[in-house]
Amino acid sequence: MSITVEQCIDKTPIVPFLKWAGGKRWITRRNLEIAPPKYETYIEPFLGSAAVFFHLQPEAGILADKNRQLIEVYKAIRSDWRAVERQLSTYVNLHSGDFYYEERSRKRKMPHTRAAQLIYLNRTCWNGLYRVNLNGKFNVPRGTKNEVVLPSDNFEKIAEILENVQLRTSDFVDTIRLARDGGFIFADPPYTVKHNMNGFVKYNENIFSWKDQIRLRDALKRAMARGVQFSMTNADHDSVKELYKDFPFMEEVPRNSVLAGKSEARTLTTELLVRSWK
Ligand SMILES: C[S@@+](CC[C@H](N)C(=O)[O-])C[C@H]1O[C@@H](n2cnc3c(N)ncnc32)[C@H](O)[C@@H]1O
Repeated sequence: MSITVEQCIDKTPIVPFLKWAGGKRWITRRNLEIAPPKYETYIEPFLGSAAVFFHLQPEAGILADKNRQLIEVYKAIRSDWRAVERQLSTYVNLHSGDFYYEERSRKRKMPHTRAAQLIYLNRTCWNGLYRVNLNGKFNVPRGTKNEVVLPSDNFEKIAEILENVQLRTSDFVDTIRLARDGGFIFADPPYTVKHNMNGFVKYNENIFSWKDQIRLRDALKRAMARGVQFSMTNADHDSVKELYKDFPFMEEVPRNSVLAGKSEARTLTTELLVRSWK
């Protein structure tokens, strides 16, 4: 079944429930053509906080990320959103500076308790950052925000729109490979550019290298040859522009960005939007 952009934006808006580095909520508020007018299956290989999926609300899709803990949160909400919500609300009275660190070191076992724990830590940690140490343990310090339950929370609606999608923990190449003729991929990789890996400490399992940028370009090229449409956001950098110079559409998109932790320090930056259509 095909869906049109008009049909998509008619739906009750969903605000991402996680704060994620590189989150694309800003792009959904702009009048940018990030999706083609018609497509069948929606595919998002770098899901993060799912801002674009929540904006478009397609009826069928494949959502994936390499971060297993993240994908487990979406699965837990889909299978029992009430249990996740109930567990999350228990943190409201428990939250404090000491409790944050106790909870951060606690190993939760059930899908709904693990999901609520990640949401709680995401909302109260420093700048909504997701970072793990060499043993895969979340190690971000406490931040300045204390709100555990947000007025925008709508886990029931999220569970409903996740009902017909496939959720996968996988590398983006495996996800993109699943896209068929008529499908649409929205790709938002980590913004790695050439030559910036000097002195980079390889502590994070989600590290994205320049080789990954090349793998992504090649995977998108193969998908296009199968009749798949795509749009991709990336760093506005000469090395990335060079990678996509033969693609049908490339645009620099200006945006106001806030320096981490300094809400008063706004700067104007640009990001790159690449598409398979003009
Ligand atoms: C810029 S974020 C995506 C943000 C998302 N668009 C949003 O609105 O929140 C990039 C995501 O790519 C994931 N990632 C990193 N390396 C990956 C890989 N090799 N395959 C799939 N996902 C990967 C990270 O875990 C992260 O969630």
